[in-house]
Amino acid sequence: MAINPVKGTHDIIADEANTYSGIEYDCRILAELFGYSEIRTPIIEHTPLFLRSVGESSDIVTKEMYTFDDKGGRSLTLRPEMTAGVMRSVVSNKLYATNDLPLKYFYIGPCFRYERPQAGRYRQFHQFGVEAIGSTSYLQDVEVITLGKRVLDSLGIDKVKVLINSLGDEESRENYRAALKEYFSKHIDCMCEDCKRRLEVNPLRILDCKVPEDRKIIEGAPKIHDYLSDVARGHFDNVVDMLKKVGIDVEIDDTLVRGLDYYTGIVFEYHMNDSDDVGAIGGGGHYKNLLKEVGGPDLEGVGLSFGIERLYYVYNKVNAGEEMFVNGPDFYLMGMDAHAIELNFTLANILRMNGYAVEMNYENKSFKSLFKIAEHKHSKFAIIVGEDEIRNGTLTVKNLNTQEQTTVKTDDMLLVFKSMLEDYMRDLRKEAK
Ligand code: HAM
Repeated sequence: MAINPVKGTHDIIADEANTYSGIEYDCRILAELFGYSEIRTPIIEHTPLFLRSVGESSDIVTKEMYTFDDKGGRSLTLRPEMTAGVMRSVVSNKLYATNDLPLKYFYIGPCFRYERPQAGRYRQFHQFGVEAIGSTSYLQDVEVITLGKRVLDSLGIDKVKVLINSLGDEESRENYRAALKEYFSKHIDCMCEDCKRRLEVNPLRILDCKVPEDRKIIEGAPKIHDYLSDVARGHFDNVVDMLKKVGIDVEIDDTLVRGLDYYTGIVFEYHMNDSDDVGAIGGGGHYKNLLKEVGGPDLEGVGLSFGIERLYYVYNKVNAGEEMFVNGPDFYLMGMDAHAIELNFTLANILRMNGYAVEMNYENKSFKSLFKIAEHKHSKFAIIVGEDEIRNGTLTVKNLNTQEQTTVKTDDMLLVFKSMLEDYMRDLRKEAK
């Protein structure tokens, strides 16, 4: 009996994997340009890490975690996000004990949430993200939001809106929470079960509810901006002004609270302008107390994460399904009989040792089907080795872009191929313009 993939997981294969790698490459390069170093933390962590950080009122903790007891009876959880693990690592490795604050890390890897699978929503998905820990400057918030926007720019994803809000400081939030509690208490009887629970645990969470009937009630709720302290308002205005100065327009959305409990101050999300069929492409925010809550010193931080699946989805939409970096072989060697195939095997070996990507056929096939295979594999050149070529010590080389065919002496191939590939790439660049 065939074994199916686990619900909500997906295989990423060949050209698609190339595009994933290309997206991850752009993320990595941009993070490094902004001064972030890579951090790789484990996929499994002790469950209390997420209870304390992501928070007991979040949907992630209440419904979505893959939690299990290991053979030693410890409760472990597959990470639903990566910020908590980075904080734990900063504490475990005393990374904070340095004069070189802020600490700046980026990460790429799989996360797990037991969500209902739908467009852009998986149970195993991948995130790229950054965390900057140890600066209180509003410029640190601006830097992170800018980096996110540059990632989207570099992938050609330009029809994007950046939503931003401030959850304020402790004082602002206390007052706001009380106002929300008062407002929603009057409406809670006709709201969903989740909202009823949220009212008790954290009324801010209600603003995140997606139930259409509840949304109407939420629209009339008090706005956080009327409750911001002068300090929090000043910080928010500074962030928005500076983003404008660096060319990033933002949309203030005073219902944006984000789904994780650790945020304080600035929160933000990146959405497509015209459609929101996969939800936020990425998001993040400032967290004042997170490091302290997982046992570290009193250092605040800010970070963001993108879902790579969602970046991929949007990238494909924008680029009309063209996969990125289709990395075919340089040469596809074609032989029609056992003798030619054996000769090709030695040629392939020499070419590969000289840094060329080479594919070839091992089974006898017609040239017609071999050309089809070479094309499907996005090979740049086909090399044909038939009886005439073997007799004359030559190779027939066909450029699969221009369809031009040339004869090359086998002994000269290493000399000639270098410039042939350079010409091929130059032509491609010309065509792209
Ligand atoms: P988040 O909004 O929960 O934030 O997730 C970030 C991104 O991960 C989302 O915008 C989305 O693209 C992607 N994502 C989330 N769930 C799924 C899913 N089930 N399937 C596919 N993609 C998904 C965080 O995780 C925070 N750690 C962000 C952050 C970093 N805040 C501060 N630092």
